[in-house]
Amino acid sequence: MSGRLSSRLSEYRLFVREYVRNFRTTGAILPSSRGLARALSRYVARGGPKHVLEVGPGTGAVTEQIIARMGPEDRLDLVELNGSFVERLRERFETEPAFRQVAPRCRIFHQAVEDLPAEPTYDVIVSGLPLNNFTPEEVARIVAVLRGLLRPGGTLSFFEYIGIRLARSWLARREERRRLRGITRVLGDMLGPHQIRRDWIWPNVPPAWVHHVRFCPGHAGSPAPPSCADDLAPRRPSG
Ligand SMILES: C[S@@+](CC[C@H](N)C(=O)[O-])C[C@H]1O[C@@H](n2cnc3c(N)ncnc32)[C@H](O)[C@@H]1O
Repeated sequence: MSGRLSSRLSEYRLFVREYVRNFRTTGAILPSSRGLARALSRYVARGGPKHVLEVGPGTGAVTEQIIARMGPEDRLDLVELNGSFVERLRERFETEPAFRQVAPRCRIFHQAVEDLPAEPTYDVIVSGLPLNNFTPEEVARIVAVLRGLLRPGGTLSFFEYIGIRLARSWLARREERRRLRGITRVLGDMLGPHQIRRDWIWPNVPPAWVHHVRFCPGHAGSPAPPSCADDLAPRRPSG
């Protein structure tokens, strides 16, 4: 078996194990597909130099695509709650050539994103958090934290599985339906007016939307003003 394939399989094994042990915070049974990871890291390829934060990198499926798009002066912070994933990420930054190349400009924080210092530090945030597993209050708090970590004009990219809350609501009891509806309301109210782009990712299990959001100074409603719109910054090839 090739080294690449065996390391991919060991990532899958670790992910499944952590899904079973920590279902609520892991939220997915497998790492994101390459298509989903590429869409999530779309804004890393634009402009620069910039400071990027990846929230919930897991085994590094999205990190791989982020580092492929980083410019020579870009920096990357990763914040991950799960110690087994942190260990795996550290190993990748020590052993894999693409990770080693950017390692001096990367930091890994083993903690909850909610505990990062609340300062506008980042130009791009890529989040893999499983928001559907949290309460509406937790989602509202996390969104507020992420917004507080973004510099003015910065971009937040995050994903959700297409139609999953609706599908789960059909099968759920009343309490659970209320929770899922609450999450939809929180995301719609707090992020909907600021969305600048949505990608549909069919080759993922299950298929997913990637939402890209930009909070522009003085912009509270829709549509986004031209200065806040998508695709204005110069871009590097995004592979
Ligand atoms: C759905 S997985 C995504 C993993 C990876 N980004 C991917 O797409 O393959 C969610 C990740 O978020 C992490 N996580 C959950 N809650 C977190 C929090 N409050 N702060 C930081 N990481 C968190 C989990 O440990 C897990 O690695």
